Amino acid sequence: MTVKSEKLAITIVGTGYVGLTTGIALAYLGHRVTCVDNNPEVVEKLKKGMATIYEPGVEELLVEAAANLSFSENLLDSLPDSDVVVIAVGTPAKYNGDTDLTYVENVAREIGASIAPEKFLVVVNKSTVPIGTASRVDTVIKEELRKRGLEGNYSVASNPEFLREGAALHDTFYPDRIVIGANELQAVNVLRQMYAPILEQTFTPPRSAPRPENYGMPAFVTTAPTSAELIKYASNAFLAMKISFINEFSGIAERVGADIREVAKGIGLDKRIGSGFLNAGVGWGGSCFPKDTRSILFTGKQYGVDMPITSAAVEINHKQRKRIVEKLQVALKVIRGSTIGILGLAFKPNTDDIRESPAIEIIAELLDMGASIKVYDPVALENYRQHFPHQDITYASTVEETARESDALVLLTDWEHFLHVPWQDLAETMRQAIFIDGRNYLSGEEMQNYGFTYLGIGC
Ligand code: UDX
Ligand code: UDX
Repeated sequence: MTVKSEKLAITIVGTGYVGLTTGIALAYLGHRVTCVDNNPEVVEKLKKGMATIYEPGVEELLVEAAANLSFSENLLDSLPDSDVVVIAVGTPAKYNGDTDLTYVENVAREIGASIAPEKFLVVVNKSTVPIGTASRVDTVIKEELRKRGLEGNYSVASNPEFLREGAALHDTFYPDRIVIGANELQAVNVLRQMYAPILEQTFTPPRSAPRPENYGMPAFVTTAPTSAELIKYASNAFLAMKISFINEFSGIAERVGADIREVAKGIGLDKRIGSGFLNAGVGWGGSCFPKDTRSILFTGKQYGVDMPITSAAVEINHKQRKRIVEKLQVALKVIRGSTIGILGLAFKPNTDDIRESPAIEIIAELLDMGASIKVYDPVALENYRQHFPHQDITYASTVEETARESDALVLLTDWEHFLHVPWQDLAETMRQAIFIDGRNYLSGEEMQNYGFTYLGIGC
């Protein structure tokens, strides 16, 4: 079905990875977008065309889409005229695994207080939120409207995001599917219109996000709000499980002398399994998998539903960090007094995000065991320093500096940069040339030839 491509007025609340990427992409597609954030510094920078997150292509697109974009600290500036408001504020985990909905509820309250009496507004939950939050947001908005003596003309929908950091623009413009959980057809129709250029791929690709060859059209999936909320958790738990599965098998591969990369290739060619997310390594981190698996386990507990598969995925992930330390113990014999160089602090390449990064747990454990730590990351050093200002570690500005006089190097993030390092010159600068590749990223054979004792994961 071809949808009439009308431009909409859209307010996005929260300009983190998800909100900012979505906002500038929708502006690029021709909609009139206002991005609202309650952090004045963030708004100030964005107004100057400066990206507040490290995400490839975002800064270029901020400039390209500038004519359709504005930024504000105040929802009232744009909400009354908007057709759609997208809630994309953070939903951090509480200490018990439950999700903190304070920010989402605050925004819902503000929406209820600013909604125009007559104009139809679609309120979209894009943040990852526990089951029932669409309904909760509706209740909060209703309460505010009641205080104003109004009924309002709005509908709440759930529209989960599936963006990978580092590829967020690509995933926004070329998704596999767009999921809309809504109770009202009118809301579905407005959102279909909002996504029409993506659903029909009618836009000229931006330079920073070229259309992939062989890209088919994305599916438009409409569901009940609760199903949409569960689709997000099920997707992330499944992907986390897939990685944990291959990591579990990497343990047995090591013992029997198999190569987990060959095993992954061999099983991934089965279309029912699929080849994605089968890279064995130090395990998953980031702002989504750890938080979302904890959150759905918490929900399962609340409802008395056992979720042993998701639970095991989390446990295996934790064990992968331990395996790195164990490998170091075996290779170095004694950790205390040794110097270990950590290559990669970000939880994955192409981002400065260190949330739940494997490096955090591994560095803390090695420090506890009495090692001296040097760290290097092409992008995330500063972010790490800000989060751990009191940690007694050395920040290196190159891989060469990290290697010099170290006993072991541990690669934890598969940054492309590490493919272009003159490894052949580095083994001889180290005290002991032990190299643990926590991502199976480099060629073991080459590294051995360059004089390293190379250890991968499951190979
Ligand atoms: C997003 C989703 O919100 C989260 O649910 C999902 O699981 C991962 O992606 P992210 O985009 O990384 O999170 O959010 P974050 O980096 O925390 O940024 C949120 C932004 O919202 C910040 O800029 C913050 O200043 C802003 N904010 C927060 C508001 O504008 N208002 C608030 O009340 C709270
Ligand atoms: C993820 C989901 O992919 C995205 O759909 C969701 O909406 C947000 O969470 P993101 O966390 O940005 O995206 O990164 P992703 O590329 O999924 O990687 C997550 C973690 O898994 C990283 O730490 C990565 O290094 C690790 N990983 C990924 C592996 O260890 N092996 C793999 O094969 C793939």
